Amino acid sequence: MTQGLDGIVAADTALSLVDGTAGRLVICGRTLEELAADFGFEGTLGLLWAAAAPDLRPHADLRRSLGGARRAAWALVPRMLAAGQGLPPVPALRVGLAMLPTTADGGSDAVAVVGAIPVLLAAILRARAGKPAVPPDLALTTSGDFLHMLQGGAPGAAATAALDTYLTVVSDHGLNASTFAARVIASTRAGMVPAVVGALSALEGPLHGGAPGPVLDMLDAIAAAGDPQAWLAARLAAGERLMGFGHRVYRARDPRADVLKAAAARLGRDAGRIAFAERVEAAARGALAQHRPGRRLDTNVEFYTAILLEAVGLPRDAFTAVFAMGRAAGWTAHVLEQERTGRLIRPESRYVGPLPAAA
Ligand code: ACO
Repeated sequence: MTQGLDGIVAADTALSLVDGTAGRLVICGRTLEELAADFGFEGTLGLLWAAAAPDLRPHADLRRSLGGARRAAWALVPRMLAAGQGLPPVPALRVGLAMLPTTADGGSDAVAVVGAIPVLLAAILRARAGKPAVPPDLALTTSGDFLHMLQGGAPGAAATAALDTYLTVVSDHGLNASTFAARVIASTRAGMVPAVVGALSALEGPLHGGAPGPVLDMLDAIAAAGDPQAWLAARLAAGERLMGFGHRVYRARDPRADVLKAAAARLGRDAGRIAFAERVEAAARGALAQHRPGRRLDTNVEFYTAILLEAVGLPRDAFTAVFAMGRAAGWTAHVLEQERTGRLIRPESRYVGPLPAAA
């Protein structure tokens, strides 16, 4: 029995390959660099959905379909804000997503989910700042419209491009914990919306999608302390984990880290912050190598996610919900694939408790 199911293959998928030894991620046969440069978020979403459910084809004009879904989600905003008042971004988003209907048409439900997240999240973040929600502009891309709805004005081209790269890079990643959760729920035929709500709940934890906010907290603490090596050594000696490092599958540097670092650098907002992050990264890798010589603990996606999303101007407690905006592409594709090709997922447990006394 493997604690944590390490190395267990639990699904066949045509969506993504996570090559932990080589430090390589392939999505629908393409590299991250290719996807970010030539496809963007909507293009990658189209590839994922087409690979997951080739016969469905409900997405001929994807940008238009997503625009329609954003308009439909806009109608949900008042009810969601009333029900989720005072909740942090992920729980509030969970409330909004749970209000979407599940229909017999998984393809349409996938569009509804991916279109809804930017609208709901922008409204949640504005409500928290005491500002009224801004309706979607259906002509914009997902990243552009999210920034437009969040800021209440035309989004900057550089920030839109950086966010688009982020959403593309995190769109899918094999059978990570949240995607596995989505597939388990989908395998019961519960439908798209319950599967995505479950996936969002799995994403929330600090060992998965909850790490990038704490990465910035760590950088701030190190900047205040002034000595990265000493700070990191003290945390490790206290038995703490360094946020943004380590991975279940990668035994090499997470390939998404460099694409995100380059996108943050292109944005050009704070070169000093990136240089500081690089110094901390080098110190952390050294400290982890000393701390766990037998286990390669390298930079994961969340480290430069934190730098990129901060540079885009997003609040750190919204990072996990922004991650969900991108990963919803993969979740919905995996649900479609599971529904088309999968079987009820029902592993067994090994009972280690007492048995009833013999009569
Ligand atoms: N800092 C310090 N020690 C670490 C770290 C870390 N970041 N990561 C792993 N270790 C240690 C563990 O404490 C463990 O030691 P032990 O054997 O004494 O218990 C050993 O290295 C092996 O770690 P595992 O727990 O087996 O690694 P696992 O594959 O289960 O966990 C995980 C991977 C959860 C990502 C882990 O590396 C971690 O907690 N990282 C910090 C949080 C983080 O960055 N999360 C985002 C991950 S990326 C994503 O999900 C999108």
